[in-house]
Amino acid sequence: PQRVTVADLRAMKRRGERIVMLTAYDYPTARLIDEAGIPAILVGDSLGNTVLGYETTIPVTLEQMLHHTKAVTRATRRALVIADMPFLTFQISPEEALRNAGRLVQEGGAHAVKLEGGGPIVETVSRLVRAGIPVMGHLGLTPQAVHTLGRFRLQARTADAVRQLFADAIALERAGAFAIVLELVPAPVARAVSQLLEIPTIGIGAGPGCDGQVQVLTDLLHLLPGPLPRHARAYTDLATIVSDAIRRYAEDVRSGTFPSESESFGLPRELDLDTVA
Ligand code: KIV
Ligand code: NA
Repeated sequence: PQRVTVADLRAMKRRGERIVMLTAYDYPTARLIDEAGIPAILVGDSLGNTVLGYETTIPVTLEQMLHHTKAVTRATRRALVIADMPFLTFQISPEEALRNAGRLVQEGGAHAVKLEGGGPIVETVSRLVRAGIPVMGHLGLTPQAVHTLGRFRLQARTADAVRQLFADAIALERAGAFAIVLELVPAPVARAVSQLLEIPTIGIGAGPGCDGQVQVLTDLLHLLPGPLPRHARAYTDLATIVSDAIRRYAEDVRSGTFPSESESFGLPRELDLDTVA
C-alpha cells in the first residue's frame, strides 16, 4: 500500500473528506490502527500520561519519544506517522529543534513532527520545513504549557484570545505547517479557523467543524479506569475487559485448571523418566 503523505491530507480537506487520526504508542495498537486504514497516527507525548503514568507531558524526553516512535513506525505500512516534539526539545533555538526533529525522522522513522504553540515557534516551523521535515502545529490548549495556563481547560475564551488564535494559525500555515491540531477551543472558533486555512485542522475537544479529528487511543478504548474528558467517546471498555481477563487467568492458575493437557507438553517417546537418576 502507498504511504499517506502530507499532500494527501491537504487533498482530503479540498475534497471535503474528514481526516481520521489516532494516537498510538506501541507496536500492536499501531498495527491495528494501520490495518484499519487510518491515514494518520500521532505518537503523542500524551504517552507520558497514558502509558508512562506521569501527571503531565512535561517529563517526557526525546529518548522516550524515539523509543515509542520506533515501535509505531515498525508497525505501519500505510499511515503517516507524526511524532510529538517533547517539552524543551524545540523551544531553545531553531537549530536545536532541527537536530531533535531530525532524530525523530532519521532514527525514529517518523514522517513528520508536531510542535505546540504559535508566535514564538513560527520561525522554527519554517526552519524544519525548509530542511525537509513536515510540521504539524498545535494551538488552543497546549499541555506542555500547563503551568502557565494554570490547568487543562477550554482556550480561546476572550476576543483577544480568539484574535491571537487566528493570527497564530495563519502564521503557522505561512511558515509551511501541513496541518494544525486545535485542542479544547469552542466549536465555532475551531470552525472559523478551519474555514480561514487551506491546510487541514485536526480537532480534539474542538467540535465537528474541524477538517479532521484526533483522539487519544487509551480514551477511545477506555483502557485507563476512571472518568474520560468531556470531548472523548469510549468505543469499548478495555479497562473492564482486561481486568476481567486477568482475574479469570488468576482463578484458573489457583484452581489448577490452567494449563490444561493441550497447553502442556508430554515426554519425548525415547525418554523414560524412571531411568533418569
Ligand atoms: O499528545 C497527544 O496525544 C496530542 C493530541 C491530544 C493532539 O498532542
Ligand atoms: Na501532545
